[in-house]
Amino acid sequence: MSNTIKRGGFSSSFGVLAATLGSAVGLGNIWKFPSLTGANGGAGFLLIYLLATLVIGLPVMIAEITMGRAAKADPIGTLQKLSPKKSLPWWLVGAAGMLAAFLILSFYSEVVAWVFAYVFKAIGGSILSSDRHVTESAFGALIADPVQSLLWQWGVLAFIGAILLMGVTKGIEGITKKLMPVLFLLLLLLCAVSLTLPKVADGLAFLFKPDFSKITAGVILTAMGLAFFKLSLGMGTMMTYGSYFRDDQNIPATTVRVMLADLFVSMLAGIAIFPAVFTFGFAPSAGPSLVFITIPAVFSQIPGGQLLMIAFFALASVAATGAMLSMMEVPVVILHERWGMSRAKATLLTIAALMVLGSSCALTNSTMASFKLFGMNMFDLFDFASSNVLLPLGGILLALFVGWVWGRDNFQRALSNQGALHNAAVTGAVFFLLRYVSPLLILVVMLKGLGLF
Ligand code: TRP
Repeated sequence: MSNTIKRGGFSSSFGVLAATLGSAVGLGNIWKFPSLTGANGGAGFLLIYLLATLVIGLPVMIAEITMGRAAKADPIGTLQKLSPKKSLPWWLVGAAGMLAAFLILSFYSEVVAWVFAYVFKAIGGSILSSDRHVTESAFGALIADPVQSLLWQWGVLAFIGAILLMGVTKGIEGITKKLMPVLFLLLLLLCAVSLTLPKVADGLAFLFKPDFSKITAGVILTAMGLAFFKLSLGMGTMMTYGSYFRDDQNIPATTVRVMLADLFVSMLAGIAIFPAVFTFGFAPSAGPSLVFITIPAVFSQIPGGQLLMIAFFALASVAATGAMLSMMEVPVVILHERWGMSRAKATLLTIAALMVLGSSCALTNSTMASFKLFGMNMFDLFDFASSNVLLPLGGILLALFVGWVWGRDNFQRALSNQGALHNAAVTGAVFFLLRYVSPLLILVVMLKGLGLF
């Protein structure tokens, strides 16, 4: 029996696209993209993020998926299988991915917790206001309350754990596939409303008219980190999903579609948010709170806004759940396939570890507010260390692995579906990028951004 059937996999070409997109689209689009764009000066940041996505994100995504599909194993096993005998311990890249997964899930689960809490706040109705003091203090009160923050986060983790334990991941993917178009329509509606606000011109200028005076090495690193985070790269998620890909799937075509769709969702979120920021007097640099304070203000402008806002946060919860499941898949599949644990045990262990580690992020605006390492609270530190260090480092090593160890022949054969696709020009270009351009570019951006040279 072939490995594919035994391990399970995506059954249709549309299923592959939907699942991969399900991992990519998440709070990264609705929460991280707008807050980083706002905090880093707008259009200039956006432009660098687009460049990083094209020149670095796309080739690394193709590399990860191709490796996963060729080896059909968990990330550690994939690197072991594709390495020649007696080479360097490349499997460590998979192990580092597991560490990155824990760091990201720790703060991501807290943001998901805010989104879940906002579903209920929206039902209560008190946050629906265009008065910025109302929406700002509502969000401030939520994150400054240690008990609420922790309980919502543990609730989210228990919810995700239950989904995994019941083995209804497939069901969730089915639901995500059906509900995502609705989230998309709601975002379009929000954009339409936002475009009628008085200061729409200021909002759009902020988002689309670059001002390069705000661009520093640190900002460039943040933009590159966002590109990795957005496409779920550098920690084995896409490698794991690649291992579920069908052998006849056209990988370059699939990745380009996922990238474009993902960018489109982020753009919609930006267009929905920035005109409101200027109209209602919010600060674009509000950071992580930006979405939670502006979105209610936009909804307050339309009839039926409360119902739509409930729907918006409920759907954002669904999108976030899909992204979390894909991240969780990395430690769970490693503990299961490498260490021989049952899937149930691997899941419980992962959730338990996250409840402990994640609490340091949940309490970051209350009990542990003054607890800092490297000048950052735990929430910011985990975010920074994963997006700006571990994911890019994973990207460098994976690009080097494909370019110099796995090699051109293996890569091109795998990426052309053993020659069935006549795409030698594309695979050759991607290989060139991976061998020479991506590793060097990522390294320079990283070292400069971290102030190391
Ligand atoms: N891409 C997802 C988002 O934008 C988050 C995500 C899922 C992720 N899997 C990942 C980020 C793996 C980094 C690595 O919300």
